[in-house]
Amino acid sequence: MASSRFLFSVCLLFMKVLAMAQQPSDQPVMLYKDCVGKGNYTTNSTYQANLNQLLTSIYTNTEINNGFYNFSYGQDADTVYSIALCRPDISPDVCRVCIRNASDSLVRLCPNFVEAIGGLDNCMVRYTNRSIFNRMEKGPYFWVYDDRVNVSDVVGFNQSRMTLLGRKGKKRNVIIIIVIVPIAVSVILIVCVCIFLRARKQKEEEEVKGNFRGYFKC
Ligand SMILES: *[C@@H]1O[C@H](CO)[C@@H](O)[C@H](O)[C@H]1NC(C)=O
Ligand SMILES: *[C@@H]1O[C@H](CO)[C@@H](O)[C@H](O)[C@H]1NC(C)=O
Ligand SMILES: *[C@@H]1O[C@H](CO)[C@@H](O)[C@H](O)[C@H]1NC(C)=O
Ligand SMILES: *[C@@H]1O[C@H](CO)[C@@H](O)[C@H](O)[C@H]1NC(C)=O
Ligand SMILES: *[C@@H]1O[C@H](CO)[C@@H](O)[C@H](O)[C@H]1NC(C)=O
Ligand SMILES: *[C@@H]1O[C@H](CO)[C@@H](O)[C@H](O)[C@H]1NC(C)=O
Ligand SMILES: *[C@@H]1O[C@H](CO)[C@@H](O)[C@H](O)[C@H]1NC(C)=O
Repeated sequence: MASSRFLFSVCLLFMKVLAMAQQPSDQPVMLYKDCVGKGNYTTNSTYQANLNQLLTSIYTNTEINNGFYNFSYGQDADTVYSIALCRPDISPDVCRVCIRNASDSLVRLCPNFVEAIGGLDNCMVRYTNRSIFNRMEKGPYFWVYDDRVNVSDVVGFNQSRMTLLGRKGKKRNVIIIIVIVPIAVSVILIVCVCIFLRARKQKEEEEVKGNFRGYFKC
């Protein structure tokens, strides 16, 4: 009896250990990340200290409430530049927690990489040793699929999405600019010229009767 209870306890313990092994930590899983292969910093270097200081200063900052952070820290070659961005529909508090989680995960998953980018559902964090502020960069980029929801009306969903992303609106705007605007301008011009010629004709007919004939007959 006692031995079977002991066995049961051992089994329970074993299962717990197994469960812990499957979930090595509470850390949230990054939705996407890229440890950019631009070079490595050495452990305990000034760059590493600056990086940690910088990331901490982002998620402890309570003055910025718009969800966009562009911070840099350090000097010369040890300067770290970082951008953090939150989804606009989350509160500043949730944003800060998300940036903290994302920063911790990124530094852990990209050990010693001078440049890395990654995100959770609510936010993304990027850091590097080169100035990236006010600069257009096309990469790295990610495809992120969300298979938690499946769409039944694919066509309707697609249309709504395209409208939301401005694809259709953009096309319509282009059509307006390319076709409708020139036509409208031409019509207005013709009307103006006609009115002008008529006015001149009338005036001239009044002043010097029959002396001048307009080239245009409107
Ligand atoms: C960034 O770090 C890499 C690797 O250490 C180095 O090759 C590169 O010159 C650094 N870039 C700048 C702008 O300091
Ligand atoms: C940086 O370190 C990682 C392993 O930590 C290695 O895979 C990578 O090649 C290194 N990059 C450079 C540029 O040394
Ligand atoms: C980095 O610093 C920590 C604490 O000061 C120390 O325990 C660790 O051994 C150091 N690592 C390296 C690679 O110097
Ligand atoms: C941040 O991580 C903690 C656990 O480390 C988790 O409880 C929390 O939900 C995470 N929050 C976000 C926004 O990722
Ligand atoms: C950082 O962002 C602020 C707005 O939040 C902007 O005024 C500033 O010019 C930016 N700095 C750089 C270096 O991009
Ligand atoms: C949605 O569909 C995909 C592919 O058909 C499938 O792998 C996924 O499990 C589905 N998700 C849900 C929530 O039904
Ligand atoms: C979604 O709509 C766009 C434009 O209306 C079309 O080009 C695309 O093929 C559609 N995709 C699907 C999966 O229906």
